[in-house]
Amino acid sequence: MKSAIDTKRLHCDDTGVAEAARILIGGGLVAMPTETVYGLAADATNAIAVARIFEAKGRPRFNPLIVHVADLETARRLVEFPPEAEKLAAAFWPGPLTMVLRRKDPSPVSDLVSAGLSTLAIRMPGHEAARRLIAAAGRPLAAPSANRSGHVSPTTPEHVAFDLGGRIDAILDAGAASVGVESTVLDLSDLDTTGPALLRPGGIARADLEACLGAPLTVAAGDAEADGDAVAPRSPGQLASHYAPRSRLRLGVDEPEPGEALLAFGPRVPPHTSAMINLSPSGNLLEAAAGLFSALRALDAEGCRSIAVMPIPAEGLGEAINDRLLRAAAPRS
Ligand code: TXA
Ligand code: MG
Repeated sequence: MKSAIDTKRLHCDDTGVAEAARILIGGGLVAMPTETVYGLAADATNAIAVARIFEAKGRPRFNPLIVHVADLETARRLVEFPPEAEKLAAAFWPGPLTMVLRRKDPSPVSDLVSAGLSTLAIRMPGHEAARRLIAAAGRPLAAPSANRSGHVSPTTPEHVAFDLGGRIDAILDAGAASVGVESTVLDLSDLDTTGPALLRPGGIARADLEACLGAPLTVAAGDAEADGDAVAPRSPGQLASHYAPRSRLRLGVDEPEPGEALLAFGPRVPPHTSAMINLSPSGNLLEAAAGLFSALRALDAEGCRSIAVMPIPAEGLGEAINDRLLRAAAPRS
């Protein structure tokens, strides 16, 4: 493993931004300065690159990530943009406001970014360097805070190097972040039933959002994880139900039953009589993570009564993969 010292630091000038963009286009990871905290950015349209984010952070779960855009047109292209979102964007973008909106389908953004949800969190960062980087990369960037799982969000390049040095390709150095707390996360994906819901307090005050919308916000209760990496789902169990395919899932299966769809992993695929997707014929967990959500979706669409899932090792990204499969397999009411 490389040490913190050999993580490449790029200056926030044209050369540095261009180099950072090249790394992102090539599927690499770059710590991106934003006005709130440093983000760990990857090409949101490249599932393998997004899987690398989870690997670098050492997260035991796939939580959905924020997509960062440099302009409003891209946001409108990726998600349904109701008038409320237009109003908020006009008032607070670029800036520390993240809006959760319905994903457009089909989408260039990988399923892994939104962890299989039908919504996408999106924001236009207030830091000019972030917008220059996104524009230079020419694609939306998925970025959680650039800390190891369980640690606090980093506000300086030194924090990033301490947590993720040797695990990422470069840090775009723009000094200390000015806001210092994460963006406010506002869910606008279900305006008809619940109205706008505050999922995470942050850089934009609730009162300012309410003044802009002319309406009070619902506050989603829930247990946010200590590092702020997970916010309350909109309603209890909402996340769980989104992750669940209609077909029943059987885990750790070596011999699928007749008629059962098969989610395979590794080179030794058992005989099967129905649809099969191999998450990674070579047994690569990064590749398996990258394809997990689209594979579940595709096998579910086959309409089989159940999906047999081969055993997946629990090390590295395998922990998050198994966590997701366990939830998908859990009995639901
Ligand atoms: O200021 C910020 O927001 C920083 C900078 C880098 O942009 N990013 C950040 O990302 O804090 P992260 O991944 O640490 O936190 C994103 C939060 C998580 O709590 C996640 O659960 C929530 O946003 N989130 C993302 N997508 C969501 C979705 N589709 N529905 C509900 N919550 C979502
Ligand atoms: Mg975080």
